[in-house]
Amino acid sequence: MINKKLQDALNDQLNAELYSSYLYLSMSANFQAANLAGFASWMRIQAQEEIVHAMKFYDYIGERGGKVTLGAVDGPPTEWKTPLAAFEQAYAHEQMVTGRINDLVNLAIDERDHATNGFLQWFVTEQVEEEATADAVVQKLKLIGGDGGGLFMIDQEMGSRVFTPPAGSE
Ligand SMILES: [Fe+2]
Ligand SMILES: [Fe+2]
Repeated sequence: MINKKLQDALNDQLNAELYSSYLYLSMSANFQAANLAGFASWMRIQAQEEIVHAMKFYDYIGERGGKVTLGAVDGPPTEWKTPLAAFEQAYAHEQMVTGRINDLVNLAIDERDHATNGFLQWFVTEQVEEEATADAVVQKLKLIGGDGGGLFMIDQEMGSRVFTPPAGSE
C-alpha cells in the first residue's frame, strides 16, 4: 500500500499531466485558428499522449491501494504569437515536468518506496524524449526564421505524426 505522502504527490502529478494535455490542446486550437493544420494535429496528438501519462498515474495509485482525487485543472494560455513562441513554451514546460518527476523519484527514495521509484523510471525516460522532441522543433523553427515557405514545409512534416500509445502503456 502506498503511503499518504506519496499518494498526494502522485495525485498532484496526475493533475499536472492533465494540465499538460490542456496546454497542448490549447496550442492545437491556436494553430488551427492560424491555419497551421500540421502543427495543430501534432499538438492534438501530444495532448492525447498527456492523457495517457495522466492515466498511468491514475492506474498506479489504484493498483497500490491508494485513492485518486481529482482537483481543478488550471486554464492554459490561449494565445501564442508564433509557432516558435508556442514550442519554446512547450520546451520550457517539459523541462519543468522533468524537474517534477525527479522530485517524485527523490520522494519515493526518501520514503523507501521502491515500487514507486520503479514506476517513475518510465517517466524519467519519457521526459528525455519529450524534451528532445520539443527542442528539435524549436531549433527547426529558429533555422527557418520568418520564412513562410519553410514554415509551410515544417507544417506538412508535423502533420505526418500519428498517435502511438507510448511504449510500455497498455
Ligand atoms: Fe507528460
Ligand atoms: Fe512522448
